[in-house]
Amino acid sequence: MRVIGIETSCDETAVAVYDQARGLLSHRLYSQIAMHQAYGGVVPELASRDHVKRLLPLVREALADARSDRESIDAVAYTAGPGLIGALLTGAGFARSLAYAWDRPAIAVHHLEGHLLAPLLEDPAPDFPFLALLVSGGHTQLVDVQGLGQYRILGGTLDDAAGEAFDKTAKMLGLPYPGGAALARLAESGHAGRFVFPRPMLDRPGLEFSFSGLKTAALVALRGRVLDDELRADVARGFQEAVVDTLAEKSRRALRATGHRRLVVAGGVGANRKLRERLGAIAAESGAALYFPRTEFCTDNGAMIALAGCLRLAAGGDAAAPGLGLGARARWPLTDNELTGV
Ligand code: KG4
Ligand code: ZN
Repeated sequence: MRVIGIETSCDETAVAVYDQARGLLSHRLYSQIAMHQAYGGVVPELASRDHVKRLLPLVREALADARSDRESIDAVAYTAGPGLIGALLTGAGFARSLAYAWDRPAIAVHHLEGHLLAPLLEDPAPDFPFLALLVSGGHTQLVDVQGLGQYRILGGTLDDAAGEAFDKTAKMLGLPYPGGAALARLAESGHAGRFVFPRPMLDRPGLEFSFSGLKTAALVALRGRVLDDELRADVARGFQEAVVDTLAEKSRRALRATGHRRLVVAGGVGANRKLRERLGAIAAESGAALYFPRTEFCTDNGAMIALAGCLRLAAGGDAAAPGLGLGARARWPLTDNELTGV
């Protein structure tokens, strides 16, 4: 079984080929970040237009890299949501046209399921069941994963996602969008202890997160001061420590509550080295093992979509419903198996 996966939920156009027996055969990605940076964030209309330009060349390249032709592809998987609706519709329209032309099924993949399953692209891959900490630009969730499609949300964010908080704080520190990785680099030269920001929600039981107050605390720390390199680095360090502490402590509680022996971290913020270190320590303390995808598969990519599509196909269908609808949803809870949308 061989599946081509297409990702266009935000500002990355990505295509990959995944083979059930041989694993990942190829993956290609074009990032639009440089185009959006001038605006300080993603401009949805520009994102959609750019996906249109990139998709076909990327499909050709991914097929060539995989030494595959259209005959060898069994299905076309695409990100159906959640994400920017224009960007999603571009990918959905393209993928479903390709599937129609190739006479193959189109498989609608949930973007967050892609992130959750991305560690399965690595060796060793985690077996089910596991606890997943999903931390991206749009989502922050602790998920009890019992198997493919069997997800229970244990806790989520009440306001900003972790990646969003990183990006907004990075902007205050004068870093270009998306500033998460740059803020992490800046934090390395910061002094520990100069700024100790609040650890949101740690004083209460439960597995919910909240990051907007932390962002405000960083803003207050900067107010009225000269934004020199030392101050920027110290604030970055204090901010990162507070986020990492919060994510790690909630993950520890969730491991305890569920008794899981495997902890998976996925999504863009999962690329954060400090977070991985802390989660590794927490997992070890609880007798669990930590799994994470390589950095390029933490952030948006086509490989996770091809993999998720292949697993869905192998599990017996779940191909996108036939008909004229494109099958895309801007908002789509992970626990909702229905793709009712555009
Ligand atoms: O998963 P992703 O590519 O897109 C979404 O589905 O949202 O995540 C992107 C997010 C951005 O907010 C970015 O700043 C953040 O992941 N990010 C990081 C790091 N690398 C990417 N945040 C903290 N530390 C990093 N090293
Ligand atoms: Zn994502």
